[in-house]
Amino acid sequence: MNSVHTSPDHSGKVVDGSAGPRVKRVLVIAYSQSGQLTRIAERVLAPLRQAGNFDVHVETLRPRQSYPFPWTFFSFLDAFPESAHMVAPDLQPLTLRGDEDFDLVILPYQVWFLAPSLPVTAFLKHPLAQRLLSGKPVVTVIACRNMWMLAQEKMKRLLSGCGACLIDNVVLIDPSPTLLTLVTTPYWLLTGRKRLLGLPAAGIDDRSIARAERFGCALRDGLNQDAERKVEPMLHGLKACVADPRLYFSEMAGTRSFYLWGKLIRAAGGPRTHWRKPLLIVYVAFLVLLILSVVPLSLMIQTSLRPLLRQRLTALKLRIEMPSGSGSERMGVYEY
Ligand SMILES: Cc1cc2nc3c(=O)[nH]c(=O)nc-3n(C[C@H](O)[C@H](O)[C@H](O)COP(=O)(O)O)c2cc1C
Repeated sequence: MNSVHTSPDHSGKVVDGSAGPRVKRVLVIAYSQSGQLTRIAERVLAPLRQAGNFDVHVETLRPRQSYPFPWTFFSFLDAFPESAHMVAPDLQPLTLRGDEDFDLVILPYQVWFLAPSLPVTAFLKHPLAQRLLSGKPVVTVIACRNMWMLAQEKMKRLLSGCGACLIDNVVLIDPSPTLLTLVTTPYWLLTGRKRLLGLPAAGIDDRSIARAERFGCALRDGLNQDAERKVEPMLHGLKACVADPRLYFSEMAGTRSFYLWGKLIRAAGGPRTHWRKPLLIVYVAFLVLLILSVVPLSLMIQTSLRPLLRQRLTALKLRIEMPSGSGSERMGVYEY
């Protein structure tokens, strides 16, 4: 462990009082309902914490009106209009002042209705976010069922609104087949139980969570070499982001439907209002039909048109996987 003597100066910056490497400050945004995203973030942070020359500040987000876990049927559905329209809830006061100077920001988030979860959106729309993130390199870490591509497009817009520079994106998804996760994930979210009968457990598997440590090792080494200043990816070659572009078209259909129905439901009243319930019931029937038709239909059409679509899908995959990419050439360096 490096022995570095540091002290905060009047602006909250950490000043290095030795000839060793400067202590770098890392801001981590934290919100997780089941604890899954926290476990992943902790794996990523472990190498930075162990290195001893990083000051890691974890800012836990607390919505003023907390979201329940497990969700009730209506509270779950009631979250979709605001998620789709990215109408953020109020947060309890942050512990940050806005004048802290971080070298790197790690932004783990979960996806809610094909958009960044509302508490994380609330942070990015918070007046302090621009001050904290402007000009800073940001690493996003997504953990969700498996539909995250359009959420990340929205995340990029939120980040650029704050003047932040996205340098890496890590994505962890539920390893089970898409159609199974459409049963196991809602079951988990509505009951808190991961196992339904003999089906594979919902959520991200323990092995993938443990292996997320490789990203922390690469970030530690990158930061020690000032790589964050080049505003380039530090997590390339580590299979950080593997996209399945065939789901993109289902996500587009879902996003459009969430947006239009969300507008209608929001016109009936704000979150938790009585008048939204009948509309939410109609919508859920429509949604089930949409999922049962659009997802398999779009996958079938794409499979039969694969030879024609191959080039387009490959280009789409490469674009979506930016900036970290799905290459595996450095896996041997960081997986022991
Ligand atoms: C309201 C809600 C909507 C969700 N929508 C999506 C989604 O659109 N795509 C997806 O892949 N996962 C979706 N998920 C799963 C979450 O991204 C996440 O994996 C899960 O909620 C666990 O996160 P946690 O760490 O907060 O417990 C949704 C979860 C919730 C609670």
